[in-house]
Amino acid sequence: KKTFRIAAIAGDGIGKEVMPEGLRVLDAAARRYGIGLDIVEIEWASCDYYAAHGQMMPDDWKQQLQGVDAIFFGAVGWPATVPDHVSLWGSLLKFRREFDQYINLRPVRLFDGVPCPLAGRKPGDIDYLVVRENTEGEYTSLGGIMYEGTDREIVIQESVYSRHGADRVLKYAYELANRSRRKRLTVATKSNGIAISMPWWDKRAEAVGQDYPDVSVDKQHIDILSARFVLQPDRFDVVVASNLFGDILSDLGPATTGTIGLAPSANLNPDRKFPSLFEPVHGSAPDIHGQNIANPVAMIWSAALMLDFLTESQGAGRAAHDAIVQAIEAAIVQGPRTRDLGGQASTTEMGKAIAERVAQG
Ligand code: NAD
Ligand code: IPM
Ligand code: MN
Repeated sequence: KKTFRIAAIAGDGIGKEVMPEGLRVLDAAARRYGIGLDIVEIEWASCDYYAAHGQMMPDDWKQQLQGVDAIFFGAVGWPATVPDHVSLWGSLLKFRREFDQYINLRPVRLFDGVPCPLAGRKPGDIDYLVVRENTEGEYTSLGGIMYEGTDREIVIQESVYSRHGADRVLKYAYELANRSRRKRLTVATKSNGIAISMPWWDKRAEAVGQDYPDVSVDKQHIDILSARFVLQPDRFDVVVASNLFGDILSDLGPATTGTIGLAPSANLNPDRKFPSLFEPVHGSAPDIHGQNIANPVAMIWSAALMLDFLTESQGAGRAAHDAIVQAIEAAIVQGPRTRDLGGQASTTEMGKAIAERVAQG
């Protein structure tokens, strides 16, 4: 039997509070379903490490991650001590790029038992997948500032898109839509205002779509698409977006399901040449850290996505995934629930309740 080696990186803030709950549930699932896990807990890739070493990760970080099958990641960022672009480009964004995790899969789902901020919506009305391009686009450190510090300052910030990079994420999204119930793909764009990259992105979406005649494609500008996430969430199935647009949509979508504390993500290298990374969509939440009140579900659901990906949705891994999701569903309905879900439970109480349900199968 194969043992999966997992690097657990808690990071900062509530990353350090939700990680133990993620590990608790992983452990329960591994025992119950007979999955071999070897968890390596890593202290670096945190702002504490930065304070001590002047960098986010050791120089040999890649060697230290050699042989790791997946990274289980909490959240990084402590803007009071380290500028966000420094901490994130020095950790998470580096993993995404160096490990070519070009798909960021972010499910959005309204759970039974969570009051929906959108009037009249019930579970089933909000259930879609955001497929976010994860290695290029608007996220770059290319550009510069001229005449800095004077009133003539000029700032240039480049975006980068490649045919290889766009086609592979579009193809992934078409494949998902083709296998989905509704066979609907929404392509986020902004080809009216962003005059070079976005008309080109639309063309790539059309070109890749030639192979998927059964998928109905809906190209929408990001502004109205955002409005429809609120007004008509039931029309969405699979949504594919560039890096920045996908980032925004994947906080907006979960917000419409009651709290971003539920939203998981899978940063995938589908070729399995490098480890994939599984993490909550949310960040380190400095405003609530240290109180043990953060919702652990995003972290726990990410654990389920990790087991499913590692086992290619087969056998024990698939069963463990389903059991974790069912335990989350039950905890949300019956409690204990954290405050963002209208309850009073601590992070630990909710995590333990979910782990116990998984252990009972
Ligand atoms: P955030 O996601 O950390 O917090 C936004 C709001 O949501 C806060 O009010 C927070 O209390 C709440 N929230 C977040 N997660 C929650 C949970 N599990 N349960 C209950 N409430 C929750 O976003 P931010 O405030 O923009 O960023 C804070 C720091 O985190 C910054 O340094 C930012 O760069 C970083 N960040 C990191 C990641 C990541 O590591 N993937 C993602 C987003 C932000
Ligand atoms: C996310 C986060 C990151 C992103 C930040 C922290 C760089 O917001 O994973 O959604 O923008 O990708
Ligand atoms: Mn984000």
